[in-house]
Amino acid sequence: MTIERGLQLPTDISTPESITNSFTNKDILSLEQFSPESLEHLFEITFFMKDIGENARPSDILSGNLATLLFYEPSSRTRGSFDAAVKQLGGQTVVVENPQQFSSVSKGETFDDTIRTFESYCDTIVLRHPEAGKAQEAADVAKHVPIINAGDGVGEHPTQALLDLFTIQERTGKLDNLIGVFAGDIKNGRTIHSLLRGLSLFPGNEAYLLSPEELRLPHEEILKFKNKGLSITEISLMNEIPKNANYWYWTRVQKERFQNHEDYDRLNNKFVVTKENFDRLAGRETILMHPLPRVGEIETEIDEDSRAVYLRSQVRNGMYVRMALLSLVLGKIK
Ligand code: NCD
Repeated sequence: MTIERGLQLPTDISTPESITNSFTNKDILSLEQFSPESLEHLFEITFFMKDIGENARPSDILSGNLATLLFYEPSSRTRGSFDAAVKQLGGQTVVVENPQQFSSVSKGETFDDTIRTFESYCDTIVLRHPEAGKAQEAADVAKHVPIINAGDGVGEHPTQALLDLFTIQERTGKLDNLIGVFAGDIKNGRTIHSLLRGLSLFPGNEAYLLSPEELRLPHEEILKFKNKGLSITEISLMNEIPKNANYWYWTRVQKERFQNHEDYDRLNNKFVVTKENFDRLAGRETILMHPLPRVGEIETEIDEDSRAVYLRSQVRNGMYVRMALLSLVLGKIK
């Protein structure tokens, strides 16, 4: 069994600055930086952004601002919603996709030089990179603009967790004393890593982790979460899912983190949500979430169920949360 890449979560990176009173000019690298109060503030502004988005209200909150979206890995929703968020608020974007092929990176330019170049043009860099810890590295290099982590390898995906937390709060009315089921690639899935960090900020949360043995969270990570007060139970069968869960958070097996494709084929889609098992194992109020893309782990027959939020509020909230975050980080809203 060889899954060399993606085995380790980063342990040797510096700790990002916590967000207490102000978001202005802060790098957004990890859910570790947030407190319940800073999340509450962000979500208040997210409701305001939702009104702008839903009612097509013209806004110039980010007028004059320029954001570089620097994406070393493929993306649909994260890149699209950051781009839309900036434009909804009257700002502009420089989009650099696949710089390994289409920028001076292909000529051998260093990561540091690329970051320093784009920080000369814009007010923030939104970075996605296949290596864990790279967003922190960019933040160490950039002297003048905040870095927003849009996913760093198997590390974290903080803005996805922010939209997930907002969605959970919107549907359940709270962020504490919740029972959640996480399924799929717990080891390599950065959205789960960030969301568990977010949930551990609130008391009484329980997480059931459902995955094949090889895709479990490393033991030391589980201990860290438990020490923060998050209750974690590892399960290996769908029948072990508690009936009263508030949400199910399904994820795909992260194919790009595998070196051996036979391992991927063997571990992929061990747990598929069907109408039959969702009706049998979930509650009437349980919401079904997925960061997307899904590649077969949720059957399309469930999409019309009102409990399935992944292609509805969850995805839309991504733009609203990013509108709020950008306005705060760029100091346009305090
Ligand atoms: C996730 C990611 O990139 O980590 N996608 C996303 O941003 N919504 C999840 C995934 O790719 O599986």
